[in-house]
Amino acid sequence: MAFPQTRMRRLRASPALRGLVRETELRAGQLVMPLFVSEGRPGSAARELIATLPGVQRLSISAALQEAHEIAALGIGAVMLFGIPAAKDPEGSGAWDEEGVIQTAVRALKGALPELLVLTDVCLCEYTDHGHCGVLRDIGSHSPLDPPVVDNDASLELLARVAVSHARAGADLIAPSDMMDGRVGAIRAALDEEGFADTPILAYSAKFASAFYGPFREAAGSTPAFGDRRGYQMDPANGREAVREALLDVQEGADMVMVKPALAYGDLIGALKRATRLPVAAYNVSGEYAMVKVAAAAGYLDERAAVLEILTSLRRAGADTIISYHSKDAAQWLAE
Ligand code: PBG
Repeated sequence: MAFPQTRMRRLRASPALRGLVRETELRAGQLVMPLFVSEGRPGSAARELIATLPGVQRLSISAALQEAHEIAALGIGAVMLFGIPAAKDPEGSGAWDEEGVIQTAVRALKGALPELLVLTDVCLCEYTDHGHCGVLRDIGSHSPLDPPVVDNDASLELLARVAVSHARAGADLIAPSDMMDGRVGAIRAALDEEGFADTPILAYSAKFASAFYGPFREAAGSTPAFGDRRGYQMDPANGREAVREALLDVQEGADMVMVKPALAYGDLIGALKRATRLPVAAYNVSGEYAMVKVAAAAGYLDERAAVLEILTSLRRAGADTIISYHSKDAAQWLAE
């Protein structure tokens, strides 16, 4: 028989043929839109631009409600809330305040739009005055050579309090992002004890100490005052360890696991899916978003094509759910 016997191009000949054999689908219902909700100070604007995240804003609770209506109308699966409190302290006590910004926002959102799922990020870094994701152990000289250490076990109790306060406000899914050991178990136990046995946990299982969080920290004011997060977030070089993290979270009661960031970690999205058999979420983080926005604004990329390609590739890698600042635009494009 004459070469080539197999012609891969046969099934690429028309849009209809390509549609017939397309392996991966992207739906608005799989997308999660992050929202930054700001407690604000007297006189602060309802919507504040974020220099590092073009197109994303810090929202007052009422502005967040407006956004949520648009998000729900687009068929987006969920919103993920990040709080920006008016005041911070060493323990991050604003994070579990029943009248805190997230608790108030969740009640408002669930009251107005009961159908829209609300996910909450559980962490202390936006609420601590030092910007770390847990409480500090008060040892050492605190010199640059001897920085204070984040106390894992003391932080667990506080994170569990945060999670319970979110569930009490009506959060549909609790997403711990602090990377303390044992936090999924501690949060599961506290939720069960307080009557929230049916509230699922989406664990940020493989969360890496990444350069791609820069714009978020600017948006949330959560840059660590000293040191970095490498003592608790993962080393980007480690893949087997990411699988171990995810399996531990499964043992501790996670209902879904996450890989974060997404674009440089596609191998791990697949690996976690195979190892855990749980739904896997990929977090397309702030720096990944900013890269596309800046290149598109400069005219170097077709934003729509690039974004849909990126989100589809995360689905192909194995993500069931995608958390992305592009979600609103993407849902609009998918509807057209
Ligand atoms: C809180 C948290 C961070 C992000 C999500 N939750 C910041 C961090 O760990 O420094 C980053 C999200 C993004 O970059 O879009 N711990």
